[in-house]
Amino acid sequence: MTQSLPSRPNTKRLHIITWGCQMNAYDSARMADVLAPIGYAPTDDVGAADMVILNTCHIRDRAAEKVFSELGRLRVVKEERAAAGRRTILAVAGCVAQAEGEALLARAPFVDIVLGPQTYHRLPEMVARASRAAGVVVDTDFPAEEKFDFLPVPVASGLSAFLTIQEGCDKFCSYCVVPYTRGAEHSRPEAAVLAEARALVAAGAREIVLLGQNVNAWHGLDETGSPSSLGRLIRRLADLPDLWRLRYTTSHPRDMDDSLIVAHAEVAKLMPFLHLPVQSGSDRILAAMNRKHTAADYLRLVERLRRAQPDLALSSDFIVGHPGETRADFAATLALIREVGFAQAYSFKYSPRPGTPAATAQSQISEEEKDARLQELQELLRAQQDAFNRACVGRRARVLFTGPGRHPGQIAGRAPWLQPVHTTGPAALVGREVEVAISAAHPNSLSVDLLSPEQPPEECPPEQASEQEHACA
Ligand code: SAH
Ligand code: SF4
Ligand code: F3S
Repeated sequence: MTQSLPSRPNTKRLHIITWGCQMNAYDSARMADVLAPIGYAPTDDVGAADMVILNTCHIRDRAAEKVFSELGRLRVVKEERAAAGRRTILAVAGCVAQAEGEALLARAPFVDIVLGPQTYHRLPEMVARASRAAGVVVDTDFPAEEKFDFLPVPVASGLSAFLTIQEGCDKFCSYCVVPYTRGAEHSRPEAAVLAEARALVAAGAREIVLLGQNVNAWHGLDETGSPSSLGRLIRRLADLPDLWRLRYTTSHPRDMDDSLIVAHAEVAKLMPFLHLPVQSGSDRILAAMNRKHTAADYLRLVERLRRAQPDLALSSDFIVGHPGETRADFAATLALIREVGFAQAYSFKYSPRPGTPAATAQSQISEEEKDARLQELQELLRAQQDAFNRACVGRRARVLFTGPGRHPGQIAGRAPWLQPVHTTGPAALVGREVEVAISAAHPNSLSVDLLSPEQPPEECPPEQASEQEHACA
């Protein structure tokens, strides 16, 4: 069920600054959606904004610190506007708001609204309260009602759209704040996901990226009231005729079930890319992290995935310097990376997060050692990414062009393996899926030549999909 609110003319301006994961990007878009009916239209100009929302991330220390430095800047903007007789409502949303709650106000008393990731459907009410009274509104509940039931149906969409299907986490990895900031794991029902996907496609989306902190743990109820699975959901979404591409992120190795692996072999619309964080290659550290899988489990899983879809590009997250990580543990991580061969990856220095078990563990690693390990790890990952991109040169691929490129006359999109792609071409190809030949590799992108812009998007039969050689590995 979605709520439809009578619209008011857009007389006020809203500026949202977003940090963190794609789920925060999705949430920011939905906050704009819930505020539109009470008259807020987006602006890029913070000085013109009647309301500014900081949608924050708490995952690492530096992410949280950025919020406070931005708040310092916004205080000045708010004061300048006040001197000109204009009110600015300043809201802090997202995971820092959830983690810090009222404590945030001690550091930033000029903030008007503090709201967590599970209460933004109540924003219109909070704005009304903040506008009426001088006091501060704090809402960091985990409400019993389902936030998604109160969000309006999306009416606008880019060509590639995010769709949150699962939220929260029950895994409690030693280092991670997500179970505390996002709450318990929760899957949206299949019908709600399909309805939102249809609305996004009707609004112009041709690619949907399914989101969740543990997206492959999704087990939303189907029409019979039984738990479904992500593999099955992907097949149902692939039946939408005007939807051409599907992706999903982020997956946990423990939740990668057979139906999802088989979907990679059989569903042509499912892009051959998987972000599957392993964090470490050392069993000792994986146990300390409470990941509940070993390096060998991960390698076996990669083997099964590649058997199902030999063209699969793999991505991961790594943490270096978790408490207790020895040089030998770190060497095991490098060995795992060499064995898998990643198309891309994210890597971080361990950052102690208040309230998590690892933060108070003995044997914290020095910053110097973490820096050195991160540099070594990133060098290896960069070399693998370069090798992967170079191996793509000469291949053909279908690219969904989603907008103009950086230079005049260019259009841009993404390759099936997620690299940004650009070429010289007519703007009329934006919104089309086009056959291209990959002509050059750069560290973070590919240049391509257009082959057959006129061709309509075609289905690749499953036999063909699994016969493609794994040229990009
Ligand atoms: N649910 C996903 C990850 C979500 S957080 C998973 O389980 O893989 C995104 C990434 O941030 C994590 O994969 C991890 O690599 C990193 N991260 C989380 N907490 C961290 C911390 N305290 N220090 C450094 N990196 C961290
Ligand atoms: Fe954090 Fe672990 Fe949950 Fe991922 S699985 S969100 S790393 S606690
Ligand atoms: Fe950050 Fe919260 Fe996402 S901590 S990574 S915004 S779930």
